[in-house]
Amino acid sequence: MEAPRLWYPHEQIDWGSGEDFGTHPWNALDYPVAEGVRSSIYVNLLTEDNLPYYTNSILSHAPKGHPIRDWNYQWTMEENRHAMVMRDWVHITRCIDPVLLEDGRRVQMSRGEVPEPDTFADLICYVSFQERATQIAHRNTGAHLPKDDKMGRNVLALVAGDETKHYLFYRDLALAAFAIDPSTMMIATAKQVTDFAMPGTGIPSFTRHAVRIAREGIYGLPQFLKDVVTPVLDLWDVGHIEGLSKEAECARAELDIEVAKISNTVERMAQKAAATAGAALS
Ligand SMILES: [Fe+2]
Ligand SMILES: [Fe+2]
Repeated sequence: MEAPRLWYPHEQIDWGSGEDFGTHPWNALDYPVAEGVRSSIYVNLLTEDNLPYYTNSILSHAPKGHPIRDWNYQWTMEENRHAMVMRDWVHITRCIDPVLLEDGRRVQMSRGEVPEPDTFADLICYVSFQERATQIAHRNTGAHLPKDDKMGRNVLALVAGDETKHYLFYRDLALAAFAIDPSTMMIATAKQVTDFAMPGTGIPSFTRHAVRIAREGIYGLPQFLKDVVTPVLDLWDVGHIEGLSKEAECARAELDIEVAKISNTVERMAQKAAATAGAALS
């Protein structure tokens, strides 16, 4: 695998454009943008801040000498720069309220709440979906930033680029695990798709922010289905895996039902949105 491209957080920031918060307190008009975009920046940055607990969760599945520990250290190093560069950009551009952000960070980190998959198979399935979801969330947030915020677009593109590499690693690790123990992996996949929640549930008012982010079209159930679940399940070719145990065959059937359920909900949401838009035009 190609070595990750080295980039420096401090080089991405236009430091001269910042102002002191003492002489110029934060105001929403400093960076006019839709509430859903602000919510997305807030949730995505706080999720990156919560890194120590994710590191801990992964290490809990890796005994001393296990190769996943080496990966975990590299991953932790890369994730850490996401929070650094995003916070610098946030403070320089004033795109979100720094008091709200710090209050949220204190609450979230005091809780230490992160998903804790039960087994190693659950873990690699969960992180495959989660890294892909995070990549999509950062990418789509970047696309919703004001056109003149080139710094923000660049920062989020770099972060999304790292998430892409993380996703590819976990996705391929899971694919290799399917070749070794397809039944265990199928059971884990069905469970993780059914129970999937974005990281960030410890963030204050997470549900309110998640609704705003979805309404803005940045990340919600349609993106989860189209950009996360579908490409991952297609790559693992879950529909054609042979030699499954009885229990794993049941899990695959449950997975099919779950994906169909999500598809139906997404379709109903699209129909409702189209009807609302039609009513507004008539
Ligand atoms: Fe990250
Ligand atoms: Fe990541």
